[in-house]
Amino acid sequence: MVVLTGAGISAESGVPTFRDAQTGLWERYRPEDLATPEAFARDPELVWRWYAWRRELIGGVEPNAGHRALADLENRVPRFTLATQNVDGLHRLAGSRDVLELHGDISRTICSRERVTVDLEGLQGEPPVCPGCGAYLRPDVVWFGEALPVEAFEMAREAAHESDVFLSVGTSSLVQPAASLPDAALAGGATVIEINPEPTPLTPHADYALRSPAGETLPALLPAHGGA
Ligand code: OAD
Repeated sequence: MVVLTGAGISAESGVPTFRDAQTGLWERYRPEDLATPEAFARDPELVWRWYAWRRELIGGVEPNAGHRALADLENRVPRFTLATQNVDGLHRLAGSRDVLELHGDISRTICSRERVTVDLEGLQGEPPVCPGCGAYLRPDVVWFGEALPVEAFEMAREAAHESDVFLSVGTSSLVQPAASLPDAALAGGATVIEINPEPTPLTPHADYALRSPAGETLPALLPAHGGA
């Protein structure tokens, strides 16, 4: 079984989905104009402050029943792969052990030149600079136009192609290459199930499209009494 999740699974935790309107002082910006290497080169402080705001937003939220159901499912299925486009870390917080973070993790910071993880503890500045080489630090997330972590994506694609069941949960299925994972599953003969209150480009190709929120639907997929 392979599950691909997007921002929709965190919506019921109170995390605005990626394409929800930005709120507050970020209202006048489009994420597509901030989450790019060009935006960071042009105005590192603005991009750093946007991510600091999003880290703040995510700092106070908890995983919901949908995240927890997937963590439970991982223990009941012989082979289970969870790939997420989310950078909020809520799957690991819910107890999922083996998570492929296709777009990185907003709580991790890296040197923009060396790409090594850097501990923010005690560092000042917006953005701070790398203690090792002096380059700006940046969030460890995939920006528009950047490549996904190759190994994580390859593992997700192979697992999708070998899967019997592929679940697409809470993603608009718009952004490549993550949106091509269901195609790999279909090509491998998997049963594809979509959980999303809205239709997406995947809907016509899915075997089942469950038009309901993940927080209600995923727990309903679990065996009721803890059976295998
Ligand atoms: P989007 O904001 O594009 O889509 C969120 C999807 O979740 C929509 O299709 C909603 O209908 C659905 N949704 C909303 N509430 C839901 C709920 N309670 N249960 C289930 N589904 C719900 O977010 P993503 O598809 O994750 O990439 O966006 C994919 C990528 O686009 C992001 O990772 C980001 C962006 O470009 C990068 O930043 C590289």
